Amino acid sequence: MKIAIGSDHGGLNLKKAVITHLEKKGIEVKDFGTYTEESCDYPEYGCKVAEEVVAKNYDFGIIICGTGIGISMSANKVSGVRAALCHDTFSAHATRQHNNANVLAMGERVIGEGLALDIVDTFLNSEFEGGRHERRVNKITDIEKKYSK
Ligand code: RB5
Repeated sequence: MKIAIGSDHGGLNLKKAVITHLEKKGIEVKDFGTYTEESCDYPEYGCKVAEEVVAKNYDFGIIICGTGIGISMSANKVSGVRAALCHDTFSAHATRQHNNANVLAMGERVIGEGLALDIVDTFLNSEFEGGRHERRVNKITDIEKKYSK
């Protein structure tokens, strides 16, 4: 499994913890920035990770900012991305099973590291159920097509 990860300065420390956690498990992770604590703009990193996932260079994306909100909003503007902001493990497995989420978003200022790592594991180990959920996900794609130029 290959993971694309990105954050702004507000998510930098949690991102480092997630990278260490995944690498210990032998999972390949590529960090698309930011790399320093200098203040920066979350849309750049949400977009970069989203583009890499849509291009199928990576299986999933993980994006982190202070709240997880701005970076998930940004990623979800990229066609084909279904970024889910999860701060609990129930949502993390439900969004894989029901929404076929391909990007996980979290907020470093919202949850602690232990919970965040459990959320990452839950998200990556859950499978899309298809069936009636596939029909609904296809309707999300239809909306995307309707509003794309
Ligand atoms: C940065 O201060 C902060 O606004 C950002 O990390 C994020 O929380 C935005 O949604």
